[in-house]
Amino acid sequence: MHAAKLAQDLREELNYHNHRYHILDDPEISDSQYDALMGRLQEIEAANPEFITPDSPTQRVGAEPLSSFREANHLVPLLSLGNTFDDNGFLAWYQRVNILLEEASFEMVCELKFDGLAVALTYEDGVFVRGATRGNGTVGEDVTLNLRTIRSIPLSLPKHAPKRLEVRGEVIFPKSKFEAFNTERISQGLTAYANPRNTAAGSVRQLDPKITASRPLDIYIYGLGYAEDIDLTTHWEAMEFLNELGFKVNRNMLLAQSPQDVLDYYRKWVTLWEQLDYGCDGTVIKINRFDYQRHLGVMGREPRWAIAYKFPATQATTRLREIRINVGRTGRINPYAVLDPVDVNGVTVRQATLHNEDNIKTKDLRIGDWVVVERAGEVIPQVITSIAAKRDGTETEFAIPKICPTCNHEIVRAQDEVAHFCPNAACPAQLIRLLEHFVSRSAMDIEGLGISQSTSLLNAGHIKDVADLYNLTAKDIVSIDRFGEKSVANLLAAIDASKSRPFSRLLVALGIPLVGVEVADLIARHFPSFETLIAAEEKDLVGIPGVGPKIAGTIISYFSSESNRKVVEKLSAARVAISVDQKQNLTPTALTGLRFVVTGRLANFSRSDIVETIKELGGTVSASVSRKTDYLITGEDPGSKLTEAETLGVTIISETEFTAMIDQNSATPLT
Ligand code: IVH
Repeated sequence: MHAAKLAQDLREELNYHNHRYHILDDPEISDSQYDALMGRLQEIEAANPEFITPDSPTQRVGAEPLSSFREANHLVPLLSLGNTFDDNGFLAWYQRVNILLEEASFEMVCELKFDGLAVALTYEDGVFVRGATRGNGTVGEDVTLNLRTIRSIPLSLPKHAPKRLEVRGEVIFPKSKFEAFNTERISQGLTAYANPRNTAAGSVRQLDPKITASRPLDIYIYGLGYAEDIDLTTHWEAMEFLNELGFKVNRNMLLAQSPQDVLDYYRKWVTLWEQLDYGCDGTVIKINRFDYQRHLGVMGREPRWAIAYKFPATQATTRLREIRINVGRTGRINPYAVLDPVDVNGVTVRQATLHNEDNIKTKDLRIGDWVVVERAGEVIPQVITSIAAKRDGTETEFAIPKICPTCNHEIVRAQDEVAHFCPNAACPAQLIRLLEHFVSRSAMDIEGLGISQSTSLLNAGHIKDVADLYNLTAKDIVSIDRFGEKSVANLLAAIDASKSRPFSRLLVALGIPLVGVEVADLIARHFPSFETLIAAEEKDLVGIPGVGPKIAGTIISYFSSESNRKVVEKLSAARVAISVDQKQNLTPTALTGLRFVVTGRLANFSRSDIVETIKELGGTVSASVSRKTDYLITGEDPGSKLTEAETLGVTIISETEFTAMIDQNSATPLT
């Protein structure tokens, strides 16, 4: 087949599977099969760059950073919505509409009101040509390159799409990914985003599309801007049409025949919205027929044909009683508010984060103030503002203390840093937080050591730094409350098992500022042991793509500290993450191009270890068996994947066979 035709077929196939995965949530093929198709298209396009089309699925990412966004004029303005917070407000709106429509019967569409960033997407001849933010409704920002990276935005539409089409929707950041995303940001020394909505907005407004691409953004399309030469008479019909064109339209819509239907819809979602994975702040009710919408028209910026019935506020006012601080694992001083307990939409809020001293100053928060607090979903409560009008003069200003409350060391604030720090690496408060981080999932993954247990071990003098974990004896642990015989054995086993984590995980665990999971991976790939890493100079580190002078700086400064070096020596002596030294002798390409699936319990590898090992050697691991799978590695109780592999004729190997396979490629065999 001619390469151009082949590329076209692959593009269509990929678009089809993209739609099944991201819009219908019902994939037909495995991720690795998708990757394989993508790989083939990339190959063809690399050999024949003239075949690359702008709507090719290979072209979602890759654009260079911009220096600023261009303005985007909206042909049809993006309106805002009138609000109501109660049934009466809705019924009053309904009555007005009823009168203006001269009591003709009319249907209404009920939808959720998504809480993200409003955008307009323009398609010409079925190709996505422009994406813009709402801006002031008339002029927004051209964020096309960023929106292209969102998988649920189709880059091209089927043949029957209108010649020119503009749709509107809301970009959202999934709530389930928000907490982990912020944790990673903080571990990189970046500031946390306040909530998923701000994160969605901040992610779309990045000048570098690669950053947008790295965020798990999604979109819901809720309206039609315009569609050329197509006869649509109702909003409902339009939404069905857009869904059919491949847009992601939210399923939770209702075609209401009566005001009671609308109220029922609201009652249902007011109790359910918090369980959704995307932010919502109410429902939207729209008159269904377009001719009725036109008849009702617009008042100022708000259409008379739609209204938002908002969910109860997630904000409340209360007294700010105290501002306290805690010391983070890097010594960062985190101020937080102690509040008079207040019910915020069903949940009692007692504390709220205050981030840093500048935030307290900018918001002019004083101890004793009345303040507005906000709680949204799973997110830590925030203090939004103080209410200065309610002051009586007894309120006092707050300053970060001069001395660390835990270790009495002087607190410092570095130039161009918003945060204050306790620079004493031996500060017990830091050590507790560091331990907490060290044992966490994304680091050494040691189960069974909570804050209270680590505090006790610390107070008893058994732990003076994280490396001491590896010298703990059963006797040390038994002396601590809350530990039974079984849990002692479990903890010791968990600590022991953690020794075989890859070096990159140990790097994460050390809690070096700016070194999160991704950065640690990059670094470990180039410097796979402490020896090599400590010997590295700044120029070696910044030579790693993705590592800048800031990260290089924190790494060098970490290893230049005497006490940190001692910890590292102790970890090495305990042979923690040492297997990597051996793995580095493996040909890094030993498994290149081979696709693995793993099933059942393995004796010598944890699941993440084996995945990491395969990847390090150039192989790939997928979740499900397909015809493309080269090897199924089986442990105990292999389950249905084994039968699938047998049916598909995939080579089945045991863990031992796998070990032998990688040993052949290593200079020093793995033990
Ligand atoms: S319709 C008149 N539908 O709410 C039509 N808007 O206050 C106006 N929004 O910035 C938009 N979910 O981004 C509509 N299902 C929905 C919506 C929705 C969220 C946002 C929209 C706009 C704001 C209007």
